[in-house]
Formats: sequence, C-alpha cells, structure tokens
Amino acid sequence: MPQTIPPKPTRAEQLLPKECYFSGAWFEREHQELFSRSWTFACVVQDLPEAGDYKAVQINRYAMIVVRTKDGAIRAYHNTCRHRGTTIFEKDGNCRHGIVCPYHAWTYNVDDGSLRGLPKKELAFPDLKMEELGLHKGSIGVIGDLIFVNPQEVPQDDFEMWLGGMRDTHMWPHSLDGLSEKRPVRYDFGANWKAFCENAMDGYHLSYLHDKTLMGPDIEDQRWDAVGRHWVTFANPESDDRQNSHFTPIPGVNTSKPYPVVYQFFPNSGVLSSPIFFSAYTIVPVGPEQCYLELRTWMMPREQQDPAKKPKKPSSTSGHGYIMDDGKRYISIDTLSCHAMESLDFQIEDMWVCEQQQKALHSPMMKAGPMAAVGETALTWFQANILDFVPLDDPGMKMAAE
Ligand code: FES
Ligand SMILES: [Fe+2]
Repeated sequence: MPQTIPPKPTRAEQLLPKECYFSGAWFEREHQELFSRSWTFACVVQDLPEAGDYKAVQINRYAMIVVRTKDGAIRAYHNTCRHRGTTIFEKDGNCRHGIVCPYHAWTYNVDDGSLRGLPKKELAFPDLKMEELGLHKGSIGVIGDLIFVNPQEVPQDDFEMWLGGMRDTHMWPHSLDGLSEKRPVRYDFGANWKAFCENAMDGYHLSYLHDKTLMGPDIEDQRWDAVGRHWVTFANPESDDRQNSHFTPIPGVNTSKPYPVVYQFFPNSGVLSSPIFFSAYTIVPVGPEQCYLELRTWMMPREQQDPAKKPKKPSSTSGHGYIMDDGKRYISIDTLSCHAMESLDFQIEDMWVCEQQQKALHSPMMKAGPMAAVGETALTWFQANILDFVPLDDPGMKMAAE
C-alpha cells in the first residue's frame, strides 16, 4: 500500500532498475498495485451534453463507460457485461433507453448500472438474482472540463485527495466551451509507458531533440513544481509557442507572467496548457514494452483564425499516420514516410527517442548514467512515486537499483 507522498527530490538520480522498463513481472505489479487504484483522464464534460450520452474509454486495463444520467450526473461503469463478459459499447453514442449488451441483450439502467431485464428470464434463468448483477461501478472526478476515472467504486484516494490541491494552486484558465476539437491522435510506441512519462518531464532535451520543433526552452529558463504526486512545469512569457504564434489566442489565458504549460498527472495522464491550444492525454500501458499515447487537442474555431496569417510550418501531425474508422489518426514509427526526426511533430520525435532508449535497455552494457541536476530531477520525483506504490521488495531488483 502506498505510504506518504515522497518529498520533492534535491538531486537527480535513477531510482528504478532498468528491469522495471521491460520486466513482465514488474508490469503486472504496476497494474495490480498502481493502476488498479489510480485516476486516469478519460474524456471531457463536453463529450456528454445530453442524458444518455456515453463514451467507451480504456482506463489502463479496464474497459469502461462514462455516461450522463437523466439527472445530469456523470457516472462510470465497467464496460463488461455481467452475463458472459462481453464489451458492451465499442465507441460513443446515446443509451438513454438503457445499456444493452449486443450479445444476448441483457439491459442495464443508465442511472445506476443495475440490471433491468434480460430475454427469456423465466425459462433460461429461473433463479437469477437480478439485484446482484448490475454493472460494476467505477468513480468519477472532474477538474476544469476534464473527467478522470478510477476503476474502483470506492477509491483508496478520493479525487480531491489525489489532486493534492492542484485545483487551488496551478489551475489552467481554459474552458473548452467555444473551442473546436482537432482530430484525436493515437501514437503507438514500442516502449515502456514510463519512458514516455519521463520524457514528458525531462526538460534537458527540449533544445536538442526538438531543435526543429519546440526549440527549447533551455534548462536555465525552466521551473517545475510538485503538487500532490503530480508535476507542473512553467513557461516564461517570452518563450510561449514561438513557432505557432499565427494561431488566434484563446481568451482568458494570461501570458504576462510565467504560467503552467505541462501538467503530468501521476501516473499517466497529462495536460498541455498553451495560449493557443489545450491538450489532454493519457498514456495507456499495453505491455512491458508497448504503450500508446491518446492525445486530444482544442483550439479556437477555424472561422476565428486569421486567414491572412499563414502558418510558417505545417501543423503538427499533418500527413502522418492513418485515419481509421473511429475518426482518430494513428501514428507509429513504422508508418512514417520520413524519418521521425524529419516529421516536424515533436510527439513523433519523443516517440522515436523513447523507442531508441527501449531498444538499448536489453544490451548488457546499458546502465543509466548520471542525470542532469537541473532538468531531470522531475524524473526522480516520478520514480519515487512509482516506488511508493510498487516497492522494490525483490532483493535482486534492489541490488540492480544500487
Ligand atoms: S454477454 Fe452480455 S448479454 Fe450475454
Ligand atoms: Fe520531448
């Protein structure tokens, strides 16, 4: 069981042995001891305007449904039928008349997930106790317009406890009302999910790996803060989105002083909060060496952009990957028609470097080296929080970390 939130580290060091980035046994422990009780970004309140509107979401290993009830509340149920376990909903839609499983039409109430009816009950299930077979419930937390889901009906940490005061200290000013959503993107990585999270927290690489895209800021100009188990980094007014400044600013976003630009919600969700766009993402762990990033982005509507101002560069992700029938763009390194470092998409650059790290992990020569005193201490903080949930109780792993 997790103990106390670790203090913000004073020095950067690698706490996790490299086996934690490819071991199947460790990956199982992460699911059982961390993801089974953590909060994950699922969708936004604007996805569910009407009673019965639902989204099918993947909360790490848990297939779940987020739904608007008749009285306007938002609920989360496990998307697993209580008869034979079939996934009930594939994508999004409206179920105001009931949550109906496609296999044998067992039907559940929208408002509380209880089992309402099933075909041929008297004949096929004369002794069935319907009150025991409602959908399993999860929990909902809302911050800004973002809906987070916990797979437990009664989470160990309730949402406010888990937020650790983020709402009061570093809240983003964006409302998604009036913004328009760009096509969602899924990036499939051949890397451990923690490699992506650590990359997102690594300020040291921004001017080097991303010299064609983000171009900094350098570590002298970076500041980060720890809130609860989460991490926030700030941008300075002079360094905001230089290459994208042709886009119309989002009203109410004050950039006259340093402002939070990246929120990494422990363990695997995040927000990019910019004067011209707002993004929210989840990094979904699929296997010890496989994960994907699901990224949603909102901007001012096209009709409110100034047509006289042409982008200096192609917008990120333009032309890469494939659009599938769920409307998302899917991108992986092996579907690129250019090298990742020529993609002009900083997420692809990150995906590529995470895969490069992952490949090298299997070399007996690979051992993590020293970490930057400025720019990489956030990685130590992240790893300390992982270890609080999944301690190194195996003596072999402890030795590997030393
Ligand atoms: S599996 Fe859902 S009704 Fe049979
Ligand atoms: Fe990066």
